[in-house]
Formats: sequence, C-alpha cells, structure tokens
Amino acid sequence: MKILVINGPNINMLGVREPEIYGDKSYKALTEKIKCYAKAKGVKVKLFQSNYEGDIVTEIQRALNIFDGIVINPAAYTHTSVAILDALKSVNIPAVEVHISDVPAREEFRQISYVKQYCFKTITGHGLEGYIEAIDSLIERAEGKV
Ligand code: DQA
Repeated sequence: MKILVINGPNINMLGVREPEIYGDKSYKALTEKIKCYAKAKGVKVKLFQSNYEGDIVTEIQRALNIFDGIVINPAAYTHTSVAILDALKSVNIPAVEVHISDVPAREEFRQISYVKQYCFKTITGHGLEGYIEAIDSLIERAEGKV
C-alpha cells in the first residue's frame, strides 16, 4: 500500500509557529514519526509539503494510479480551496483530512472545510498523532474494515 501525506502552508513552520496551538515538535519530527510508523506497518509513504495551492493540486493529480490513499492537512487552504477539493475528486483516491489543532474550537472563519466534503474521515485536535490515526484509517479501509 502506498500513502501520500500532504501538508499545506506553514506546516513547515511547526515547532516555531504558535507552539501553544501546534506544539513544539518540528516538521522534520513529524516526517520522521510518519516514516517510522509507515515502515512498521509495511506501508510506503511519501511526504509532501507546500506553501502553494497550485503545487498541492499538481501533487494530488500526480498521485493518480500511484497512491492508494492520501492523508491531507491543507492548513489554511482547508477553509478556502475549491481547487484542492476538485483535485481530490478528480483522482478519486480515498483520503483522510487531518488538523493538528482543535479546529471546531477555533475562529469562525476556520469552521468551513472544503475537503471535508470529499474525505471519508476528519481527524482534528489530536496533534501529530492525528496523522498516525489517519494512516490507520486508510489501512483499515483498504482491508475493508471501515
Ligand atoms: C490547521 C488548522 C488551520 O485552520 C490552519 O490554517 C493551519 C493548520 C491545523 O493543522 O490545525 O495552518 O490545518
């Protein structure tokens, strides 16, 4: 099984960026945590982070016929991007939406998520552990358990 993990703008600033909201672990620590877990589970994983909406759209398009699952934290684009939603719909690969912070408890402008319409699951407020839960959900779905 091959899983693509996509992170949107400012996720590369983890550890520096608002640590009271996003924690003190770096993006590198997140990538290592994910790679280590994927290896233990026998899953191939690719990590992609971009601050550019179009690059995220292109990466999703490139996943067609290559990846079996997508974990996506579109970050601020969650609340604005119809293009990312449409890209996910285009490739039709099972996807899980992840947010590090507890988005439902935050500002009104964060309450809309476009990708939520496509993703079969949303994990929010579980910190970096949310990515691990998302990988588990994709594995379970591939095994026909979800
Ligand atoms: C986020 C929540 C978004 O509202 C915010 O713009 C982010 C990160 C999260 O992981 O909690 O950049 O997606």
